[in-house]
Amino acid sequence: MAGVLRAGPEQDVRSGRAPGRGAPDPETYKDVLGRFCTGLTVVTSLHDEEPVGFTCQAFSALSLDPPEVLISVQRTSTTWPRIRQYGRFGVGVLAAGQDELARALARSGTDKLRDVAWRPSSTGLPRPEGLLAWIECELVREVDAGDHLLAIAAVSTLEAGPATTPLLYFRGDFLATGGAS
Ligand SMILES: Cc1cc2nc3c(=O)[nH]c(=O)nc-3n(C[C@H](O)[C@H](O)[C@H](O)COP(=O)(O)O)c2cc1C
Repeated sequence: MAGVLRAGPEQDVRSGRAPGRGAPDPETYKDVLGRFCTGLTVVTSLHDEEPVGFTCQAFSALSLDPPEVLISVQRTSTTWPRIRQYGRFGVGVLAAGQDELARALARSGTDKLRDVAWRPSSTGLPRPEGLLAWIECELVREVDAGDHLLAIAAVSTLEAGPATTPLLYFRGDFLATGGAS
């Protein structure tokens, strides 16, 4: 069908092209890419009936039809293999003032939700209180991406609120906005 891009097999599409400039150094990469202001999320799930999760900046809407989202996960994450095993997870979009929650779930290790206020969602996932939005999904695909992997998930539940103002992340720091309602 004209005008429709069809998905091909996952592959490196550079073959046959002239070489580019080579890789930038890591500090420049972090400095320049850190100027892209984002929201922040916490990705939560269950492992052996215990709540697990990690703070995730690299979250994105991906597809409306079918409804899918994308997260980019560090290969070194110790929490991700637990979430993958459960197969379902929630993405909590953080509200202004939830810096502590972001810090708590950014620690490596277990029992990160010990001091976090959360309740089980209607499907039993650990849902922190006071979020800007809550998205539940089922993992459908992982794509290799250097020192990260891209996790693609089918959306099953979408809930807005209760908060209305986002927590932002810019140049390595938390920013609260005046917000829009
Ligand atoms: C502000 C912020 C953003 C982060 N974004 C991501 C991310 O997008 N993807 C990711 O895999 N880890 C991200 N992390 C790191 C994880 O939150 C966590 O530290 C890492 O997964 C190690 O914990 P784990 O071993 O329990 O998985 C972020 C950390 C912070 C503080």
